[in-house]
Amino acid sequence: MLIVGCGYLGTRLARDYLSRGERVSALVRSEGSAERLRALGITAYASDLDQRVPLPLDTEGEKIFYFAPPPDAGVADPRIRGFLASCETGGAPRRLVYASTTGVYGDRGGEWIDETAPLRPQADRARRRLDAENALRVWSARTFADILVLRVAGIYGPGRLPLERLRQGMVLVREDEAPFSNRIHIDDLVQVCAAAMERGRAGEIYHACDGNPSSMTDYFLRLAALTGAPRPQTVSLDEAAGRLSPAMMSYLRESRRLSNRKIREELGVWLRYPSLASGLPACMPDA
Ligand SMILES: NC(=O)c1ccc[n+]([C@@H]2O[C@H](COP(=O)([O-])OP(=O)(O)OC[C@H]3O[C@@H](n4cnc5c(N)ncnc54)[C@H](OP(=O)(O)O)[C@@H]3O)[C@@H](O)[C@H]2O)c1
Repeated sequence: MLIVGCGYLGTRLARDYLSRGERVSALVRSEGSAERLRALGITAYASDLDQRVPLPLDTEGEKIFYFAPPPDAGVADPRIRGFLASCETGGAPRRLVYASTTGVYGDRGGEWIDETAPLRPQADRARRRLDAENALRVWSARTFADILVLRVAGIYGPGRLPLERLRQGMVLVREDEAPFSNRIHIDDLVQVCAAAMERGRAGEIYHACDGNPSSMTDYFLRLAALTGAPRPQTVSLDEAAGRLSPAMMSYLRESRRLSNRKIREELGVWLRYPSLASGLPACMPDA
């Protein structure tokens, strides 16, 4: 088992595999992250995929999770293309599970969508993800390695809550104008990743989300209530455009509700936290 990009998600997934007696290797960018992983019993290598140096990895017949994000700019993902090229010397993997994002669908006006919905990425960050998905498909056709794509919703969990933004006194779009967005608790995402690797059908796409879309407003208001932070001010979408960053507004200009039927019915995943109502309280320190 090799995890390429072993941060918040990868470390938790690695712990899950280690607890079942599996050996786990990981590739990260910095030596500091590699050391942290070694302390957990993971065989970790530090190498920056952007440097395109030969990787010290034997990938032949390996099961790989690829969780490294694309670079911060552009409309392509040369990082994953570099990694796939390095597998030419490391040997063809058996199976690769890729963590993409739900942004590849663009704005759907709040409609419910499944994995067959057309892709209309609007933001460059989503175009980079689609480029990565496309690169994987081409590579899989050539190498016969299985690939599976998870389109992952907003991840939340212990140690991954936007508490600092709450403290800074942010504004939110008022609830009746807030676009739909989708989320998943980290523990459930770990389950989905493992299920995809073990039981997923080669070439398939799966939504990794809790199946109960809400909105960014709902998320932050729940978090404020749970943590005792001051309730953020809510404003119209038009007013928010003048007060929030362009990056934040790019999220707020997209609205979609993702079905998770496929992970439940095909992968047999039973979510522990099917909504924020159960998942957020479980992230609190006294939970
Ligand atoms: N956060 C969300 O809500 C969300 C939603 C959908 C999808 N995703 C995606 O899901 C994936 C996993 O998320 P996460 O929260 O676990 O990410 P994360 O904590 O930021 O971890 C990313 C990992 O990738 C490594 N990495 C980054 N650039 C690299 C490079 N150039 N060469 C080698 N390694 C590199 C990092 O290494 P270092 O630690 O050494 O820097 C780190 O181990 C990411 O692709 C993320 O974009 C996230």
